[in-house]
Amino acid sequence: MIKAFFLLAFFLFSGVSQAAGNNYPLDHAAIDSSDKPSLQRGAKYYVNYCLGCHALSYLRYNRMGRDLGLTESQVEENLIFTYDAEGSPVKPGEHMTNTMDAGYAEKVFGVVPPDLTLVARSRGVDWLYTYLRSFYADKTKVWGVNNAVFPNVGMPHVLSEMQGLQKAITEEYIDEQGNRHEKIVGFELLGSGSLSVEEYDQVVLDLTNFLAYAAEPAKIARHKTGVWVIAFLLLLLCVTYLLKKEYWRDIK
Ligand code: HEC
Repeated sequence: MIKAFFLLAFFLFSGVSQAAGNNYPLDHAAIDSSDKPSLQRGAKYYVNYCLGCHALSYLRYNRMGRDLGLTESQVEENLIFTYDAEGSPVKPGEHMTNTMDAGYAEKVFGVVPPDLTLVARSRGVDWLYTYLRSFYADKTKVWGVNNAVFPNVGMPHVLSEMQGLQKAITEEYIDEQGNRHEKIVGFELLGSGSLSVEEYDQVVLDLTNFLAYAAEPAKIARHKTGVWVIAFLLLLLCVTYLLKKEYWRDIK
């Protein structure tokens, strides 16, 4: 009984804290797990812009290379830039970790940047796609930016060079109790980055596609197997149908 009470309290409380968070609408991430070039680009952006802070501890470089259609030497030359704790280059058979010291990270960011192997499952791909496109200028924050779907985020806008910096467009609304609030309804670019809006959206889509792959590497193989299983079942259906006709031919 007491357990049930605590469980109920937990759900109620977590519900309240979520509602108090934000309700910026999420954009749909039209990712495609069979699009290898997109996954390869996503991997390239990830190792260049994210891996320094966020490890993918459950994924090995060579497994990723195989799944994305890359040879081991392509992976070594283009995707491995990290060194292990002893200072020797990381080998393709190793996990995609980094050497960021947790104590240092906590001092600089206030939190340790989380491992992102499973983030596409915990947050969802639409959230990720929206998050990486929703940083906006906010002078009151340490890094000069805030985020529409992750208010007061401790992460700097690491892709601002590509996207440019944007400002939030807000609208006032009055809640049921009659209190005034502001909500973000959109963004306006303050200065353009090195990419156009469409190009930047594509970069983020590739990154999201890659993180969705990292969260479920077996999905690509499963889809391929699925097609063969369905084809086999259809063939079996034809054979059994013919067999049935053969059995019943003389029975009228
Ligand atoms: C300089 C370090 C740094 C880099 C580089 C960085 N991040 Fe972050 N990121 C952080 C920190 C710190 C947090 C935690 C923010 C918080 O909890 O307030 C975070 C949080 C996140 C989260 C939210 C995780 C969660 O579920 O709470 C996602 C998603 C994310 N980062 C994605 C990325 C991606 C994708 C890249 C590369 C384009 C990237 N980050 C590059 C520091 C970094």
